[in-house]
Amino acid sequence: MKPAFRHDPNSRRYLTQRQRTAIYGTLGVLWLSGAIWLPVHYFLRQHGPFGDMPNPAEHWLIVAHGAGAFAAAWLGGWLWRGHVTPWRRSGTRRRSGDALLWVGGVLIASGYLLYYAPGDSLRNGISIMHWSVGLTSVVAILVHRARSGRYRLPT
Ligand code: HEM
Ligand code: HEM
Repeated sequence: MKPAFRHDPNSRRYLTQRQRTAIYGTLGVLWLSGAIWLPVHYFLRQHGPFGDMPNPAEHWLIVAHGAGAFAAAWLGGWLWRGHVTPWRRSGTRRRSGDALLWVGGVLIASGYLLYYAPGDSLRNGISIMHWSVGLTSVVAILVHRARSGRYRLPT
Protein backbone atom coordinates (compact mmCIF):
# COMPACT_ATOMS: atom_id res chain seq x y z
CA MET A 1 0.00 0.00 0.00
CA LYS A 2 1.25 3.49 -0.82
CA PRO A 3 2.12 5.57 2.25
CA ALA A 4 -0.30 8.46 2.79
CA PHE A 5 2.32 11.23 2.97
CA ARG A 6 -0.32 13.82 2.31
CA HIS A 7 -1.98 13.16 5.65
CA ASP A 8 1.22 13.14 7.65
CA PRO A 9 2.01 16.78 8.47
CA ASN A 10 5.05 15.77 10.54
CA SER A 11 6.69 13.88 7.71
CA ARG A 12 10.17 15.21 6.99
CA ARG A 13 9.51 14.51 3.33
CA TYR A 14 7.65 17.77 3.03
CA LEU A 15 9.81 20.71 2.10
CA THR A 16 9.68 23.50 4.68
CA GLN A 17 9.39 27.14 3.65
CA ARG A 18 13.07 27.62 4.47
CA GLN A 19 14.08 24.67 2.29
CA ARG A 20 11.98 25.93 -0.60
CA THR A 21 13.64 29.35 -0.27
CA ALA A 22 17.10 27.69 -0.39
CA ILE A 23 16.14 25.75 -3.55
CA TYR A 24 14.58 28.70 -5.39
CA GLY A 25 17.46 30.98 -4.28
CA THR A 26 20.14 28.62 -5.62
CA LEU A 27 18.30 27.90 -8.87
CA GLY A 28 17.55 31.63 -9.25
CA VAL A 29 21.27 32.55 -8.99
CA LEU A 30 22.11 29.87 -11.57
CA TRP A 31 19.40 30.89 -13.98
CA LEU A 32 19.91 34.66 -13.71
CA SER A 33 23.71 34.52 -13.97
CA GLY A 34 23.43 32.29 -17.06
CA ALA A 35 20.62 34.31 -18.66
CA ILE A 36 22.34 37.69 -18.11
CA TRP A 37 25.67 36.28 -19.38
CA LEU A 38 24.11 35.74 -22.84
CA PRO A 39 23.38 39.39 -23.84
CA VAL A 40 26.57 40.55 -22.08
CA HIS A 41 28.63 38.04 -24.08
CA TYR A 42 26.92 38.41 -27.44
CA PHE A 43 25.93 42.09 -27.53
CA LEU A 44 28.04 44.01 -25.01
CA ARG A 45 31.59 43.24 -26.05
CA GLN A 46 34.13 46.00 -25.50
CA HIS A 47 36.31 47.57 -28.16
CA GLY A 48 39.96 47.63 -27.15
CA PRO A 49 43.11 48.71 -29.01
CA PHE A 50 43.58 45.12 -30.21
CA GLY A 51 39.97 44.49 -31.29
CA ASP A 52 36.90 43.19 -29.48
CA MET A 53 37.34 42.01 -25.91
CA PRO A 54 34.95 40.23 -23.53
CA ASN A 55 32.98 42.53 -21.24
CA PRO A 56 34.51 42.41 -17.70
CA ALA A 57 31.02 41.64 -16.30
CA GLU A 58 31.23 38.21 -17.99
CA HIS A 59 33.85 37.12 -15.51
CA TRP A 60 31.72 38.01 -12.47
CA LEU A 61 28.64 36.38 -13.96
CA ILE A 62 30.54 33.12 -14.49
CA VAL A 63 31.94 33.42 -10.94
CA ALA A 64 28.33 33.62 -9.65
CA HIS A 65 27.26 30.83 -12.01
CA GLY A 66 30.08 28.55 -10.79
CA ALA A 67 29.12 29.26 -7.16
CA GLY A 68 25.50 28.43 -8.04
CA ALA A 69 26.61 25.20 -9.75
CA PHE A 70 28.55 24.04 -6.66
CA ALA A 71 25.62 24.99 -4.43
CA ALA A 72 23.29 23.05 -6.76
CA ALA A 73 25.50 19.96 -6.42
CA TRP A 74 25.16 20.18 -2.65
CA LEU A 75 21.44 20.80 -3.02
CA GLY A 76 21.08 17.78 -5.32
CA GLY A 77 22.70 15.46 -2.77
CA TRP A 78 20.46 16.75 -0.05
CA LEU A 79 17.29 16.61 -2.18
CA TRP A 80 18.06 13.13 -3.41
CA ARG A 81 17.75 11.60 0.03
CA GLY A 82 15.13 13.83 1.59
CA HIS A 83 12.91 14.68 -1.39
CA VAL A 84 13.47 12.71 -4.59
CA THR A 85 13.72 9.12 -3.27
CA PRO A 86 10.72 9.21 -0.92
CA TRP A 87 8.42 11.01 -3.36
CA ARG A 88 9.46 8.85 -6.29
CA ARG A 89 8.66 5.76 -4.28
CA SER A 90 5.18 7.07 -3.53
CA GLY A 91 4.66 8.14 -7.16
CA THR A 92 3.57 11.67 -6.22
CA ARG A 93 4.49 14.45 -8.73
CA ARG A 94 6.65 11.88 -10.40
CA ARG A 95 6.49 12.98 -14.02
CA SER A 96 7.41 16.62 -13.43
CA GLY A 97 9.97 15.53 -10.81
CA ASP A 98 11.60 13.13 -13.26
CA ALA A 99 11.60 15.84 -15.93
CA LEU A 100 13.56 18.02 -13.49
CA LEU A 101 16.04 15.23 -12.91
CA TRP A 102 16.62 14.89 -16.67
CA VAL A 103 17.01 18.64 -17.13
CA GLY A 104 19.42 18.78 -14.18
CA GLY A 105 21.40 15.80 -15.56
CA VAL A 106 21.79 17.41 -19.00
CA LEU A 107 22.88 20.72 -17.41
CA ILE A 108 25.46 19.03 -15.19
CA ALA A 109 26.86 16.88 -18.03
CA SER A 110 27.00 19.77 -20.51
CA GLY A 111 28.39 22.14 -17.83
CA TYR A 112 31.19 19.61 -17.24
CA LEU A 113 31.83 19.30 -20.99
CA LEU A 114 32.14 23.09 -21.29
CA TYR A 115 35.41 22.69 -19.41
CA TYR A 116 36.78 19.59 -21.11
CA ALA A 117 35.27 19.28 -24.63
CA PRO A 118 38.10 19.31 -27.18
CA GLY A 119 37.86 21.90 -29.99
CA ASP A 120 36.04 25.21 -30.35
CA SER A 121 33.20 24.01 -32.57
CA LEU A 122 32.28 21.15 -30.24
CA ARG A 123 32.43 23.50 -27.25
CA ASN A 124 30.20 26.01 -29.08
CA GLY A 125 27.60 23.33 -29.79
CA ILE A 126 27.64 22.19 -26.17
CA SER A 127 27.40 25.80 -25.01
CA ILE A 128 24.24 26.38 -27.11
CA MET A 129 22.71 23.12 -25.86
CA HIS A 130 23.60 24.02 -22.25
CA TRP A 131 22.04 27.46 -22.23
CA SER A 132 18.98 26.47 -24.31
CA VAL A 133 18.13 23.70 -21.83
CA GLY A 134 19.07 26.11 -18.99
CA LEU A 135 16.76 28.88 -20.20
CA THR A 136 13.81 26.51 -20.63
CA SER A 137 14.45 24.79 -17.28
CA VAL A 138 12.35 27.49 -15.66
CA VAL A 139 9.29 25.94 -17.33
CA ALA A 140 10.10 22.54 -15.77
CA ILE A 141 10.37 24.18 -12.34
CA LEU A 142 7.08 26.05 -12.76
CA VAL A 143 5.27 22.89 -13.88
CA HIS A 144 6.71 21.02 -10.88
CA ARG A 145 5.68 23.86 -8.60
CA ALA A 146 2.13 24.01 -9.96
CA ARG A 147 -0.27 21.99 -7.88
CA SER A 148 2.39 21.11 -5.28
CA GLY A 149 0.86 23.66 -2.91
CA ARG A 150 -1.63 21.06 -1.73
CA TYR A 151 1.18 18.91 -0.38
CA ARG A 152 2.79 21.75 1.54
CA LEU A 153 3.34 21.51 5.27
CA PRO A 154 0.61 23.47 7.03
CA THR A 155 2.29 26.62 8.50
C1 HEM B 1 16.18 17.96 -8.99
C2 HEM B 1 14.97 17.53 -8.79
C3 HEM B 1 13.90 18.26 -7.98
C4 HEM B 1 13.84 19.55 -7.53
C5 HEM B 1 14.86 20.67 -7.71
C6 HEM B 1 12.57 19.69 -6.86
C7 HEM B 1 12.13 20.86 -6.25
C8 HEM B 1 10.91 21.02 -5.62
C9 HEM B 1 10.43 22.24 -5.04
C10 HEM B 1 11.17 23.57 -5.02
C11 HEM B 1 9.20 22.00 -4.52
C12 HEM B 1 8.31 22.99 -3.79
C13 HEM B 1 7.27 23.57 -4.74
C14 HEM B 1 6.47 24.65 -4.05
O1 HEM B 1 5.51 24.29 -3.37
O2 HEM B 1 6.82 25.83 -4.20
C15 HEM B 1 8.89 20.62 -4.77
C16 HEM B 1 7.73 19.99 -4.37
C17 HEM B 1 7.45 18.68 -4.57
N1 HEM B 1 8.22 17.77 -5.31
FE1 HEM B 1 10.05 18.12 -6.07
N2 HEM B 1 11.89 18.50 -6.89
C18 HEM B 1 12.67 17.60 -7.58
C19 HEM B 1 12.38 16.29 -7.87
C20 HEM B 1 11.23 15.65 -7.48
C21 HEM B 1 10.88 14.26 -7.78
C22 HEM B 1 11.76 13.31 -8.61
C23 HEM B 1 9.65 14.02 -7.21
C24 HEM B 1 8.78 12.79 -7.21
C25 HEM B 1 8.92 11.80 -7.89
C26 HEM B 1 9.21 15.24 -6.55
C27 HEM B 1 8.04 15.39 -5.86
C28 HEM B 1 7.60 16.54 -5.25
C29 HEM B 1 6.39 16.66 -4.46
C30 HEM B 1 5.42 15.52 -4.15
C31 HEM B 1 6.30 17.98 -4.04
C32 HEM B 1 5.20 18.59 -3.16
C33 HEM B 1 5.52 18.30 -1.68
C34 HEM B 1 6.59 19.18 -1.09
O3 HEM B 1 6.60 20.40 -1.30
O4 HEM B 1 7.47 18.60 -0.41
N3 HEM B 1 10.19 16.20 -6.73
N4 HEM B 1 9.94 20.04 -5.45
C1 HEM C 1 22.55 22.43 -12.56
C2 HEM C 1 22.56 23.50 -13.28
C3 HEM C 1 23.79 24.07 -13.98
C4 HEM C 1 25.10 23.70 -13.91
C5 HEM C 1 25.73 22.57 -13.09
C6 HEM C 1 25.85 24.59 -14.77
C7 HEM C 1 27.22 24.55 -14.99
C8 HEM C 1 27.93 25.38 -15.82
C9 HEM C 1 29.35 25.35 -15.99
C10 HEM C 1 30.31 24.40 -15.26
C11 HEM C 1 29.68 26.29 -16.89
C12 HEM C 1 31.08 26.63 -17.42
C13 HEM C 1 31.60 27.85 -16.73
C14 HEM C 1 32.90 28.35 -17.35
O1 HEM C 1 32.99 28.44 -18.58
O2 HEM C 1 33.81 28.68 -16.57
C15 HEM C 1 28.45 26.94 -17.31
C16 HEM C 1 28.37 27.95 -18.24
C17 HEM C 1 27.18 28.53 -18.65
N1 HEM C 1 25.91 28.24 -18.20
FE1 HEM C 1 25.43 26.86 -16.81
N2 HEM C 1 24.97 25.48 -15.37
C18 HEM C 1 23.70 25.19 -14.90
C19 HEM C 1 22.55 25.87 -15.21
C20 HEM C 1 22.44 26.87 -16.15
C21 HEM C 1 21.22 27.56 -16.47
C22 HEM C 1 19.87 27.35 -15.77
C23 HEM C 1 21.53 28.45 -17.48
C24 HEM C 1 20.63 29.37 -18.27
C25 HEM C 1 19.92 30.29 -17.93
C26 HEM C 1 22.93 28.33 -17.77
C27 HEM C 1 23.64 29.08 -18.69
C28 HEM C 1 25.01 29.06 -18.86
C29 HEM C 1 25.73 29.91 -19.79
C30 HEM C 1 25.13 30.96 -20.73
C31 HEM C 1 27.10 29.57 -19.65
C32 HEM C 1 28.28 30.16 -20.44
C33 HEM C 1 28.45 29.31 -21.68
C34 HEM C 1 29.81 29.45 -22.34
O3 HEM C 1 30.83 29.71 -21.66
O4 HEM C 1 29.85 29.25 -23.57
N3 HEM C 1 23.46 27.35 -16.95
N4 HEM C 1 27.39 26.37 -16.63
